[in-house]
Amino acid sequence: MTSIDRAFIDQVLASTDIVELIKERVSLSKNGTNYKGLCPFHNEKTPSFNVSSTKQFYHCFGCGASGDAIKFLTEHDHLTFIEALSKLAQAANLELSDGTKKNDSSYNLFISNKKASDFYSKTLKTNKEAMSYLSKRNISETMIETFQLGLANDSWDDLSKIFSQLKLIENAIEAGLLIKSNNKIYDRFRNRIMFPIRNSTGNIIGFGGRVYNKQDGAKYLNSPETKLFHKSYELYGLYESKKHINQENKVLIVEGYTDVIGLHNSNIRNCVATLGTAFTKYHFKKIIRYTNNIVFCFDGDTAGKSAAWKAINNCLPELKDGIQIYLIFLPEGSDPDTYVHEKKDMFLNLIDDAMPLSEYIVQSLKEGLNISTVEGRTTFSLNAKKLIDQMPNITYTAILKDELENIGGSLISSNPSPSLDKKKIEHIDESNFDIKEITLMNLLLEYPNLLKESAYSDYISNDILKEIYLSALEGRKINESFKAVNLINQYPENHIIHKIITMDSNEKSEDSAKLTVNEIIDQLKKTSDEKVYFDLLNRYSTGQQLTQDEREFIKNFKK
Ligand code: UTP
Ligand code: MN
Repeated sequence: MTSIDRAFIDQVLASTDIVELIKERVSLSKNGTNYKGLCPFHNEKTPSFNVSSTKQFYHCFGCGASGDAIKFLTEHDHLTFIEALSKLAQAANLELSDGTKKNDSSYNLFISNKKASDFYSKTLKTNKEAMSYLSKRNISETMIETFQLGLANDSWDDLSKIFSQLKLIENAIEAGLLIKSNNKIYDRFRNRIMFPIRNSTGNIIGFGGRVYNKQDGAKYLNSPETKLFHKSYELYGLYESKKHINQENKVLIVEGYTDVIGLHNSNIRNCVATLGTAFTKYHFKKIIRYTNNIVFCFDGDTAGKSAAWKAINNCLPELKDGIQIYLIFLPEGSDPDTYVHEKKDMFLNLIDDAMPLSEYIVQSLKEGLNISTVEGRTTFSLNAKKLIDQMPNITYTAILKDELENIGGSLISSNPSPSLDKKKIEHIDESNFDIKEITLMNLLLEYPNLLKESAYSDYISNDILKEIYLSALEGRKINESFKAVNLINQYPENHIIHKIITMDSNEKSEDSAKLTVNEIIDQLKKTSDEKVYFDLLNRYSTGQQLTQDEREFIKNFKK
């Protein structure tokens, strides 16, 4: 925890032009003394996002997002407070004091990951067996450098020793590098090739570790969810690829770490991979900041097809006009890594002839149906309606709807009076859901014991999630063997609950889930303090009087 020198923050803000900062990310036009544009925080067709150059604030009249330049970067670029401050400080040629850096816990996690990665890199270079494994897989030395690949020895305490010397044991545990169990501390990653995972600014946020000489345990072991590392949010290779994604104005989305590396090795450098999870709407929102052209690359087998359907369903609600999505399916048995190595030209042809989203949707909806029968067209039309209902009100949706109606007939509403429950949910802008709050609910519903004696409602900012939490809490109180499914019965139409329950949780036990829950609550507490802080600053800068208590709060605000 740090108390950041308020004067320094003011100095940074005073040296920043919020209009210029936002203009780099959102297209703005002048409107009197203000600037106006389409809000980057919610879906809209007419601009209600305002940036004031005199007040150095932004405000959206549509969704209520507002704040200063630091807040904008934390929300838009998903940086921590310190990262956002550092970025602006750097641009303004101001030095962040070492004290500030060292006390920031994110900074400490980055440092721990960097130390571990440096150690893994050194270890790899001295291990012939691991180097020869990589070379057999066509992973060149240049790729080892570019992706900072490393090796965790077959040892329980290599890293523990290093972090103990550095007096950074607690940080390394928090970063998921070491595991503490029954008062013993040991290395999480053992006998694995290590793939550091970096955020878009290049800092290491986690690792994937692959077995290479023995086939025991999972093929890949990944870092656990930490304050920095959210699997359903991060993309492998983004840092290494972002320049190329920009240049080519296209991104290729693949499934594996080695696919990204294999593609880079073949000079196809505009690619990223998910981290063993489905492609989520968070991934989508993240990647469309870099390009409007997305090509998904899946295996041609059943697993690949179902991953494609899941990914597309996650993207549809977030779709915007102007974004082009394409899909390619590789022949069964090959993945991008092997395919590009053997048949680069064919791979490039596949990309050029990729299937547009609309064609994919039509094809998937038709699958297994006989469209020449009334029965076939009815099923088609019902499924098509479900899909269209998830999509935003944009031109693309309207045209797709026409197209689908041409095949299956009118997409009439099968449920003309949606229940209250559903209506309420539909009016919620999904971008208001915070991944931390969603993860929290997911864990609590997966391990309902964790609900016992919990009191989290003050920290859940989203009304719908808060209501779900309170119902679950009540349910657990009345019934010791309460399960998430009890809630489904209570809210049959509530697709948020369905989504949360079907989300992949990365926690394998109640104990590890509990740790994650505690971490999330700590962060949510912090966010709720931060909100009060920014609201106060906002009021202050618009000339409103603050009470003594409120001024004290600003003064004592700790990050
Ligand atoms: P794949 O099984 O396709 O592996 O999993 P890969 O990336 O092609 O790796 P190689 O070529 O066998 O070395 C795709 C991705 O799913 C995640 C990893 O992110 C992997 O890159 N995964 C897979 C796990 O997290 N755990 C596993 O046990 C397996
Ligand atoms: Mn592979």
